[in-house]
Amino acid sequence: MADNWDSSLYDDRHAFVWKTSADLIDLLAPQPGERILDLGCGTGHLTAQLAARGVEVTGLDSSLSMIAQARQNYPKVKFTVADARDFRFPEPFDAVMSNAALHWIAEAGLVATSIAAALKPGGRLVLEMGVLGNIAIILEALEGVLSQAGHKLTNPWYFPSAAEYATVLEQAGFEIRSVATFERWHRLEHPERGMREWLEMFAGTWFAEVPLEERESLVREIEIRLRPKLYCDRAWWADYKRLRVIASAARLPLRTQSGIPTP
Ligand code: BEZ
Repeated sequence: MADNWDSSLYDDRHAFVWKTSADLIDLLAPQPGERILDLGCGTGHLTAQLAARGVEVTGLDSSLSMIAQARQNYPKVKFTVADARDFRFPEPFDAVMSNAALHWIAEAGLVATSIAAALKPGGRLVLEMGVLGNIAIILEALEGVLSQAGHKLTNPWYFPSAAEYATVLEQAGFEIRSVATFERWHRLEHPERGMREWLEMFAGTWFAEVPLEERESLVREIEIRLRPKLYCDRAWWADYKRLRVIASAARLPLRTQSGIPTP
């Protein structure tokens, strides 16, 4: 994914992304002294909450601007720029946590293999991401308006079903402990500009090849289509639907059906 994140807009108006998921930390049940990786840490707020629990935590994100903001927010916490599909650390982790990051990466098998390789045997994984049906109403409007205007559809998001993601994790050697999906619509902060700010923050890829002078009219058309469905109580809403998985890494090397350990 190209690094075109606006980390200030993210912290300023989209803090809900980490605030609404802060309870992931309790699901992870971090113990003081454990080594924990926050995968796709963004501007580092949940990473810092882990650090406050006495954990030896590292925040990882592929975006230079997110990591720069994270370091500015929390100078004492360790952050690194790396690709979730292919990262390595010299020491294994006790646990990996990931919030609202993995739906940006369609190569889920590579991510799962990298996480498995980074964990100690039996290490925990707790993740939250968008699941099949996430922002379905927004997605329909984006696709409808852009295709009607003759633009290519460049969807950067990957919203798998719960079964699909659990299978990917199992194939990488994880044992699934729990899987949950649930709707969590979110009231966007600005009463009038909420939806366009959300699009500006998260949907830039869709508009990358749209001439600048055309963008405003497309955004306005998207707002018109969405208003009857996602404007309520004098606010815009994002129709989030989440997947939460708790899993643990294999304790023994994975075996093929012939009984030969996989490399
Ligand atoms: C999400 O957290 O579900 C999400 C955020 C931005 C774009 C797409 C999905």
